[in-house]
Amino acid sequence: MHKDVKEILFSEEQLKQRVEQLAAEINRDYAGQELMLISVLRGSFVFMADLVRELTVPCTVDFMAVSSYGSGTSSSGQVQITKDLSEDISGQHVLVVEDILDSGNTLSYLLELLRARKPASLRLCTLLDKPERRIKPVQLDYTGFSIPDAFVVGYGLDYDEHYRNLPYIGILKPSVYGGEE
Ligand code: PRP
Repeated sequence: MHKDVKEILFSEEQLKQRVEQLAAEINRDYAGQELMLISVLRGSFVFMADLVRELTVPCTVDFMAVSSYGSGTSSSGQVQITKDLSEDISGQHVLVVEDILDSGNTLSYLLELLRARKPASLRLCTLLDKPERRIKPVQLDYTGFSIPDAFVVGYGLDYDEHYRNLPYIGILKPSVYGGEE
């Protein structure tokens, strides 16, 4: 285990199993349709890469990046698109793939923006959900795990841009970000 990680929340094996289950649900729900997956960078790139390889429905992928300004560890309602999609989503069945849903600020803004582009359908899949932290309501269609309000890293999730490469999801030692042990 990495020296900055206090405890492993989800092991590689647990993540793999849950991703397979989510993909099975998505394959069932979109049977006979073509799906467009949108990954919101950067955190979701690992989850997206694993999820897409378990899908059997025909699908395309696209990426967008947003930054939301807030204080400390919390995002704000002000979201800026730093990289837009390359494809037109009108008339497409769109599934947004996220690593974590926290306050809901980013996703509520993003889903509104995508809805205005008139996709045939629009759903949201997040690997992690922190329901306790929600400020803006967001409808979730597929959830990997609901988790408590802990500082998690790995499997795409960062602290100060590090730890994204860890193959598991772990809770960061508070001493790393200057918190109380
Ligand atoms: C995370 C996550 C969501 C957002 C969720 O991204 O990928 O986009 O925060 O938070 P919210 O529900 O409070 O809006 P982050 O800002 O950490 O950027 P990253 O994906 O580049 O790590």
